Amino acid sequence: MKRAIVPLLLLLIATGTVVLLNSCATFTGTVIAPPKVEGAKYVGDKACNDCHDKITRVFPSSPHARLRLTDAQMPGQQGCESCHGPGSKHIAAGGGRGKFIVNPGKQPETCFQCHLSQNAQFHLPQHHPVLEGKMSCVDCHDPHGQDIMKPRGGLAMARVNESCSNCHREQTKPHVFEHAALREGCTACHSPHGSVNQKLLTIRDSNLCLRCHAQTPKPGTPGTLYIGNINHTTYLHYGTCWTAGCHSAVHGSNVQPYYFY
Ligand code: HEC
Ligand code: HEC
Ligand code: HEC
Ligand code: HEC
Ligand code: HEC
Ligand code: HEC
Ligand code: HEC
Repeated sequence: MKRAIVPLLLLLIATGTVVLLNSCATFTGTVIAPPKVEGAKYVGDKACNDCHDKITRVFPSSPHARLRLTDAQMPGQQGCESCHGPGSKHIAAGGGRGKFIVNPGKQPETCFQCHLSQNAQFHLPQHHPVLEGKMSCVDCHDPHGQDIMKPRGGLAMARVNESCSNCHREQTKPHVFEHAALREGCTACHSPHGSVNQKLLTIRDSNLCLRCHAQTPKPGTPGTLYIGNINHTTYLHYGTCWTAGCHSAVHGSNVQPYYFY
């Protein structure tokens, strides 16, 4: 039953996208083109409360609930229906899955109507397979609650990395020799949506590391370059810090304090 609705939704979203392209010209950054549900009207958030009070209760703390779109003359440009489309037919049908309502968990296009630059990021050569339908924005973002970056609570490092650790255990497990860079979060080195670089790296070469580990000349020995008190003068000719046969365990190591393996 769920499957039958997919082509319909795709069509609806495709038409929504046309509106988006038109409105781009006038709105930079935020585009206000909520998804469409053929024949349905906007009813406002209160109408959802009757059946989805768990969600309406947490929603006021979501950044999306605070949306004040510059030119919100149309209803549905903020609140539940900005992501789910107009709800009158859904409610008239008594609600239900696949019943006249858009589920952007399966349709990232809905999010892209407003988040244009993220759309571009997911089209870069290296990207998380969201467009391929293998995962979704909600694997890393909570669309309704306060902490849109997931998960709620915890220390800064845990907060940033928790959603990543659901799928990437090897990099996120505790190590005897932890690389303190991970405390800044995985995004210190990776672009989470997409990148032109292999492995979603923000920078493709050793500058990724040199940003935090400065190369310094040693006084009295011209032409030498030191990183962290160790002479690195010739090392960087062999490749990047992690491919030259050196710091290949960049995420941390259980056996080697310089993350060689
Ligand atoms: C930022 C966009 C966005 C807004 C705004 C939004 N939602 Fe959602 N909603 C989503 C996404 C994405 C999913 C899919 C979640 C998933 O797959 O886990 C979803 C799923 C749902 C579901 C299905 C939950 C389930 O069990 O599968 C309901 C019901 C729902 N939303 C109701 C609401 C209500 C009510 C509001 C307003 C109070 C609202 N949403 C506001 C994006 C949004
Ligand atoms: C009369 C009760 C009722 C009202 C009012 C209602 N819904 Fe629903 N809705 C349901 C039921 C029942 C489901 C199925 C959920 C389930 O099985 O857990 C559902 C499912 C959904 C889903 C998931 C659809 C899917 O295909 O996965 C979304 C999104 C949703 N509702 C959004 C809304 C929004 C937004 C509003 C307000 C405009 C709203 N609903 C108002 C009863 C209602
Ligand atoms: C109706 C337009 C609209 C839709 C649809 C929409 N967003 Fe947003 N979203 C915004 C705006 C506006 C902001 C505020 C920040 C900004 O200016 O980008 C925002 C903020 C965010 C943020 C960052 C919050 C922060 O604290 O920095 C995330 C993450 C996000 N949205 C994810 C999503 C996801 C995932 C979806 C689809 C499920 C979605 N959005 C759908 C308009 C939208
Ligand atoms: C692999 C996990 C992951 C997925 C999947 C993901 N995001 Fe993000 N997103 C992040 C992280 C992590 C950040 C914080 C980036 C930072 O701090 O530099 C972020 C930030 C954002 C922001 C805030 C602006 C920005 O770029 O910093 C928006 C908006 C956003 N994401 C939208 C989306 C949308 C829409 C989708 C689905 C099409 C999505 N994201 C899928 C991890 C993800
Ligand atoms: C829902 C599971 C899931 C979550 C959550 C997730 N990823 Fe991924 N990640 C994947 C999948 C699937 C791939 C693609 C693997 C492939 O193509 O072989 C991937 C690929 C990657 C790659 C590139 C790997 C390579 O070999 O090219 C990096 C880096 C990465 N993810 C980092 C992150 C970070 C950082 C986060 C948290 C912000 C995150 N991931 C969250 C599933 C996930
Ligand atoms: C200090 C920079 C840095 C940080 C921080 C970082 N990574 Fe990486 N990551 C890298 C580099 C460099 C590679 C490429 C390794 C290679 O090509 O052998 C990589 C590769 C990966 C890969 C691909 C598999 C592999 O090992 O080659 C995944 C998945 C990944 N990282 C996930 C994460 C996650 C999840 C986090 C946060 C817990 C994270 N990374 C934090 C630098 C970093
Ligand atoms: C966001 C900043 C940041 C980035 C980017 C970063 N590091 Fe680090 N790294 C640190 C911090 C902080 C420490 C621990 C403090 C120290 O000893 O300098 C550390 C420690 C190390 C150590 C152990 C050195 C020691 O003296 O204990 C090595 C080796 C290392 N990093 C290699 C790398 C490599 C290789 C890269 C690139 C893939 C990289 N780092 C990227 C912040 C970073």
